[in-house]
Amino acid sequence: MQSYSINGVICDASEAKIPVNDHGFLYGDGIFEGLRFYNRRILKLNAHIKRLADSATALAISLPMSASEIEQALLDIVAASAHTDGYLRLIVTRGVGPLGIDPRHCDKGSVVIIADQLKMVSQEARDKGAKLIIASTRRLAGDQLDSRIKSLNYLNQIMAKIEANVAGADEAVVLNQSGFVAEGTADNIFIVTGDTLETPPVTDGALDGITRGLVLEIASQLSIKVRERSLTTYDLYIADECFLTGTGAELIPVKEIVGRKIQEAPGPVYARIHEQFRNELGNDAWFD
Ligand SMILES: Cc1ncc(COP(=O)(O)O)c(C=O)c1O
Repeated sequence: MQSYSINGVICDASEAKIPVNDHGFLYGDGIFEGLRFYNRRILKLNAHIKRLADSATALAISLPMSASEIEQALLDIVAASAHTDGYLRLIVTRGVGPLGIDPRHCDKGSVVIIADQLKMVSQEARDKGAKLIIASTRRLAGDQLDSRIKSLNYLNQIMAKIEANVAGADEAVVLNQSGFVAEGTADNIFIVTGDTLETPPVTDGALDGITRGLVLEIASQLSIKVRERSLTTYDLYIADECFLTGTGAELIPVKEIVGRKIQEAPGPVYARIHEQFRNELGNDAWFD
């Protein structure tokens, strides 16, 4: 069951509306965050608010509510939600303005929050591993639209997701303009090569994923060697293990990439990291 909040006020579905001439709707001019709450506590709330503020700064959007007001709105909807564990979609639009993309004429934007459940892949993919393809749709370069901005423009990722759907796969790996691995359509990617956990640097075209950061933190706690380096499709094909991370995805093991079977899915490194991830959900420091 979904719950809604518009500009800090919890409302019914019938009242959860924004005007059609908001540039968020007209041009995808806005930003968002996806957050998760566990036992009615929001995971890494401050990190999400910081990333939202950074996306706003990069797009010259002034947040219509202060960071603490947005935090309070998130806490309120979690308290009111029918679910104790769930997913939050926080959206900030550019605001209402005349037709034409010029943002200077827009009013202040709206802050929309939807609380719901999110199921990104089947339980079978979660338990036994997901099938990936390599999308022909490439991630935009940093000088086109920096992948670290979490904007309302997801057509690039949607095109890649359509490719995965058509191929009967669970998810698509998206390459950057140079052909190196960037990320999934809505998740970051990790592989295990020998004794080392590897992931591309975010500057290869990925979102600076908060779950990615938590996995790197866990790897350090567990003394697992980590290397950030540019990865090719060959690196993925010959990986000992592969998995995806994201707020929506949480951790998803990968069993196959374009028909190449990954050695172990779920593999032992994934299993250790996943177990620690679940354990850390009881750690207060993760809910700051
Ligand atoms: C394109 C993209 N990459 C990666 C991620 C994972 O980021 P996070 O762990 O912060 O949810 C997301 C999450 O929505 C995403 O949209």
